[in-house]
This record gives sequence, structure tokens and C-alpha cells, in this order.
Amino acid sequence: MILVTGAAGQIGTELVSELRQRHGPQNVLAGRHKTPLPEEIASSGPSEIVDVTNLDQLKAIVQNHNVTRIFHLSSILSALAESNIHAAHQVNINGVFNILTVALEANVEQVIIPSSIAAFGADTPRESTPNDTIQRPSTTYGISKVFTELMGNYFYTRFKLDVRGLRLPGVLSWKTEPTAGTTDYAVAMFYGAIAHNKYECYLGPDTILPMMYMPDAIKSLLDLSTASINTLSHHSDFNVHAMSFTPSELASAIKKINPQFSITYNVDPLRQSIADSWPSSLDDSAARKEWGWQPDFDMAALVNDMYSNLEDKLK
Ligand code: SER
Repeated sequence: MILVTGAAGQIGTELVSELRQRHGPQNVLAGRHKTPLPEEIASSGPSEIVDVTNLDQLKAIVQNHNVTRIFHLSSILSALAESNIHAAHQVNINGVFNILTVALEANVEQVIIPSSIAAFGADTPRESTPNDTIQRPSTTYGISKVFTELMGNYFYTRFKLDVRGLRLPGVLSWKTEPTAGTTDYAVAMFYGAIAHNKYECYLGPDTILPMMYMPDAIKSLLDLSTASINTLSHHSDFNVHAMSFTPSELASAIKKINPQFSITYNVDPLRQSIADSWPSSLDDSAARKEWGWQPDFDMAALVNDMYSNLEDKLK
């Protein structure tokens, strides 16, 4: 059985669907906490309420379902984590530690835990950020992701638990909305453009950040998971890159599809300061070399696909 935690989230919903297609619906357990699962996920295969902060409950679920692989996606994203650092510590640090210890005890074969561009900070080289470089994040979320990477590598080195992870950028998708990240403006801009022909952006026009379309994010997680361990020198800390853009560049691209669209800016100092501490682009040569990472979508392909799918969905 494959367990996906955070299965009701932006990435989780799409990862569960893809895994159920590949491995059969009965072999993928959708773990969610407070947010209900979309009907399609709830009805197509097994699910459980999983509180990653509850070690005993987590252990029982992993053992009862004979879980052999875990995609641990539950996490409190950057902006929300800043408004509740205690909850973020419980979920993003204790939760990760619980997943790793339960996986080890229950002989789970592999654990995949995404990290994030948030694992870097203002001291990191911003452009083409190297895979292995200074990491001094200034956010609770970023600190928890550095913990995740280091602890994942530690469990691999010390206990030979196969823990793998990659640093996702902002992920854009039209099926399930993201919750309280700093990069979410990019998704919200499409909703604004389609529903109201306008969007007020909480980041300044020239804030450049790395971004990726959901099909590539899913592909990165699955390709990393199925890569031969013999080719990996890194484990829990791969850079992956697809594209970078600013709010103003995204607005221009959307305007080409919807000429009535207009953008205004009302900068939120908290989210702006988070964005300013993150890389503008990443050197992902380690991922390309060690497990063949390559994205399929550039910005133009993303904008067209995202706009038309979201327009159909909102009709
Ligand atoms: N998308 C995430 C966030 O903005 C970054 O990992 O919090």
C-alpha cells in the first residue's frame, strides 16, 4: 500500500489520482486531516484521517494497511506558518519526525518528502541557486524544510531508510487550490482573470520566483521515487527547476489570452519579505544527472493549459 499524507491538498489530490491510475485504486491510501477529500478521491479508493502529530495513530495506520511507501505531503505552508508557528512546528517538524520513525519501525521501503525553495534564505546565492549551498532560511516554514532535508538524509545514512526529497518551487494548478503559501498569487491571478477580469496582487510587480506546473511537479515526485538508488548521490535535497517569472510577466501572459484583464498591486509586507528571501532560479543539474529530471512545461505552455482548464472548470 502507498500512503499519501496531505491527500486533500493542492498536490495530494493530483498525486493520489495519478498513483491510483498507475498502481490500482485499492493500493493507494489517501490520508487527510481536517480538509475533506474531494468526492473523486474519497470514492475511488481507501482513505483514513491521519494526524501526523499523533505517533500512535500514525503507527497503527501504517501497520494496519501494510504501507510500503509514503509520500508525506502534509505541511503548513509559508504564510500560514508565520501566523501560527506552534502549529507549524507540530506539523512540519514533529510530523516529519513521526513519519520517519514510524517508517523505520514498520519497515516501510521508501519515504518521499518534498522540500521547498523556502529552504534557502537571504544569504543564499539567489540566481541559479546551487544544489549544495548556504541554507539559512528566515521563516518557520523554511526552517522546517531544512530540518526535513537534514533529517531525511540522516535517516538514510544512519538507518538506510530510503528517504528522498526535492525542493519544489511555487506550483500552479487548476484542480485544487493551494492554501496560504507565498507563491499562491500565481494561481489566484488566473481565478481573478477568469472570474472578474482583474486581480490585486500582494507581491510587487518585479518579484521573480521559481514556478512549476502541476504535471511537472507530479512527474518530479514520481520520477524521483522510481529512480534507482544506485544513481543517487543526493537523497532528500534535490533542486528542481522549470521556469521563473514575476507577477507583471504573468499578468502580461494572461492579458494575451484575456485582453480585458488588469492587475493592481497592494503589497503585503510579510509575504513580500518571504518572497524576497527566496531564490529567483535554481541550478537543478544534480537532479538532471542523478535521476533524469526534465520539466515538460515552459511558461507559455503552462499559461495556455492552465487558463483553458480553469475556464472550463469555472463555467
Ligand atoms: N509554495 C510554497 C509556499 O509559497 C513554497 O514551497 O509556501
